[in-house]
Amino acid sequence: MPSESPRKTFLVALGVCLVCSVLVSTAVVGLRQRQQANRELDKLKNILLAADLYTEDAAVRQTFDAKIHPALVDLSEGQILPETPADKRLDPINFDIKVIARDPKLSRIIPPTDNLAGIGRRPDYMVIYQVMENEQVVRLILPVYGKGLWSTMYGFIALKNDIQTVTGFIFYEHGETPGLGGEIDNPRWRAKWIGKRAFDESGELKIEVVKGTVDPASSQAQYQVDGLSGATLTTRGVDNLVQFWLGENGYGPFLQNLRAKEVAHE
Ligand SMILES: Cc1cc2nc3c(=O)[nH]c(=O)nc-3n(C[C@H](O)[C@H](O)[C@H](O)COP(=O)(O)O)c2cc1C
Repeated sequence: MPSESPRKTFLVALGVCLVCSVLVSTAVVGLRQRQQANRELDKLKNILLAADLYTEDAAVRQTFDAKIHPALVDLSEGQILPETPADKRLDPINFDIKVIARDPKLSRIIPPTDNLAGIGRRPDYMVIYQVMENEQVVRLILPVYGKGLWSTMYGFIALKNDIQTVTGFIFYEHGETPGLGGEIDNPRWRAKWIGKRAFDESGELKIEVVKGTVDPASSQAQYQVDGLSGATLTTRGVDNLVQFWLGENGYGPFLQNLRAKEVAHE
């Protein structure tokens, strides 16, 4: 066969394609486990960041295991489940919000009037993370998510055990524009949440993201966070998801029960 024949060219091209596709598929299958492990580690790192327990040299999994107690909360009942259900997907270690929110048996439709976070379906259960010190829960890390301008944003909001004060807020996954909505990742903006009050003394949800800058002289300043300039639509999404998840369709009943327990102990 002459070396420039179309048949030979075709066979060589086919051979190269076959070899490349085998290489790519092997790499995808071979790396899947490692990618999954890295994603999990990244999630733990973000929980530690929200809990203010992360340092560059911290051994993420060891710190997580030593300091954080995950728990499965039934959102409608507002209670931590005493035992993990048989369904492996509800095990706090395997829990994947996206998987649970897709399953009609484990999630419910949120009526459009209540659908502030734009999520459509809400899991019946969520895994929360309790930060422990001397066997006491000192902070709660609550997973939250909702629509921004371009994407669904996934994050953690941390509350002190007074169930009022925000001690951290971080997004670990979103597709907002870098430099605009993507500034929700900026540590300077994240720091603006720390010390703000989510609820007032009576337990009413008060926190909000304002457009522009908070007036420090305002009596509401303790409940307000600066908006991001040039990213009003993303910040409105953040505000909406906070209202949803800290409200009655999110962790509201759970937080209310915790407050009632605190009062009973006083
Ligand atoms: C290419 C492009 C990407 C944008 N990305 C975002 C974004 O991620 N988040 C956002 O809130 N606004 C984004 N905007 C800007 C919005 O359209 C809108 O102007 C902005 O949210 C208004 O905020 P401001 O009132 O603070 O200026 C983007 C605009 C353009 C042209």
